[in-house]
Amino acid sequence: MLCGTDYFNKYYNSLNLQGKKMYNLLKRTKYIYLNEFINKELAYSLADDFESFCTTGGIGGDSQCPKSSAFYNYAPFLQLLCDKNGALSEFLGEGVVPTYSFARVYKNGCDLKPHVDATRCEISITCHLRGDEEWPFYVNGEEKVLKPGDAVLYLGNEAEHWRKPYTGEKYTQVFLHYVRTNGPHFSNVFDLNRHDFSN
Ligand SMILES: [Fe+2]
Repeated sequence: MLCGTDYFNKYYNSLNLQGKKMYNLLKRTKYIYLNEFINKELAYSLADDFESFCTTGGIGGDSQCPKSSAFYNYAPFLQLLCDKNGALSEFLGEGVVPTYSFARVYKNGCDLKPHVDATRCEISITCHLRGDEEWPFYVNGEEKVLKPGDAVLYLGNEAEHWRKPYTGEKYTQVFLHYVRTNGPHFSNVFDLNRHDFSN
């Protein structure tokens, strides 16, 4: 099964926030750390699949991170994007719909300059699959070190985020992007506003 533990409901209950809207908290804090968003075994399995896919296909980088292998809507990550949609809406107390998924295998020297994402990334999740070194993710001025399977839920187009140059050899990460059903960026549902489908 692709998605095991329903982390969102567990988190929701553990904080005794039944009836509250986590989206309100997210608006204040800009990000929420999600421990064990997926389990470690699944993270490693997805990393195996995606890294092999990139090696076999000779997948190159994107403009933001040219040294990486980067891919848009890799099928298993699209499934993860869709599988998590309902639980994420429930967790936030706010309906969300999928925009797209993206993934990278970062290599030595890769970094991410401080930036915010486009509005199609209104509600974003960055989930760590596997790496050969720890590599802090900085969001809204705070440093987060993710374990395999852990994720950060953040407001992609509000919370500035970046990474310093990677000193290891390989670090694999998947991104799941959503927009709110009743929000101002809904027209990006299924990434319908995207014009460049080359990647
Ligand atoms: Fe970003």
